Amino acid sequence: AEVLIVKTQEEAGAIYAQAVGEAIKANPKLVLGLATGSTPHTAYQALAKKVKDEGIDVSQVRGFALDEYAGLDPEHPESYHSVIRREVVEPVGLNPELINVPNGALETLPHAGADYDAAIEAAGGVDIQILGIGTDGHIGFNEPGSSLASPTRMKTLTEQTRIDNARFFDGDLSQVPTHCITQGVGTIMKARHLILLAFGEGKADAVAASVEGPVTSICPASALQMHPHATFIVDEAAASKLQ
Ligand code: F6R
Repeated sequence: AEVLIVKTQEEAGAIYAQAVGEAIKANPKLVLGLATGSTPHTAYQALAKKVKDEGIDVSQVRGFALDEYAGLDPEHPESYHSVIRREVVEPVGLNPELINVPNGALETLPHAGADYDAAIEAAGGVDIQILGIGTDGHIGFNEPGSSLASPTRMKTLTEQTRIDNARFFDGDLSQVPTHCITQGVGTIMKARHLILLAFGEGKADAVAASVEGPVTSICPASALQMHPHATFIVDEAAASKLQ
C-alpha cells in the first residue's frame, strides 16, 4: 500500500477531496463508499468546499455507507442513516435518494447483508471507499477475527467498540446497540480505490500492524496489503510506529 504522512487532518482531507472531486468530474455517476466516525470529518468538509468552490455537479453521485447499528431507529440521531445524512449528504449536497446505508431493521437482518452486496454490485461497485481504522485494526465493524473474505452481514459489537461509541449515546453504555450490520472485509476489498485515514497516537499500533504486520484476520485492516490500490493517509502521530 501507499502511505502518505501528513502534518494535519486538513491536509489529509484536501487529498481526499482532490481525488474524489476530480473523479466526479471524470465520472458524474461515481460510486462513493462512505464511513462514519470522527476520522472522515475533515475529508467530508474539504469535499463539500471543493464541490461548492468549483461548482461540481454531484447530483448523480451514488454512495454506500459501511455499516449501521442493528435495531436502532434510522431516525435516531446517532443511527448511521442520520450521521451520513448530517455529515456527508447535506454538506456535500448529494442526492439522498442515491445514498444507501445498510438496513439494520431486525426483521430483515437475515438477508439485509446479501441485499446490500447485490445493490453495490448492481451499481457497478464502489469506486472510492474512505475508511477509518479502530485501535484494534477493525475496518467497518469487522472486529479482529473477521474473515478477510467476509460479505456484508450482521455482527456482534465487541465490548470495547461499544465503550468507545458510548460517547455518542450520552456516555451511557446501555444505550449502545449490541449488534450491527457491516460491509464485510471481502466487500470492502472489492472497491477500486481504498483511502484509509488515521490520526493520533491511539491509532499508531493499528496502522503499523496493518501496513507492516502479517496479513491476518486478527488485524482486519491488514487485508489492505493485498489490495491493488490502497492509500493510507496518516498524521505523524499515527505513523509513529512504522519502521
Ligand atoms: C465507521 C466505521 C469504523 C470507524 C473506526 C474509527 O463507519 O466503520 O470502522 O472508522 O471505528 O472510528 P473513529 O474515526 O471515530 O476513530
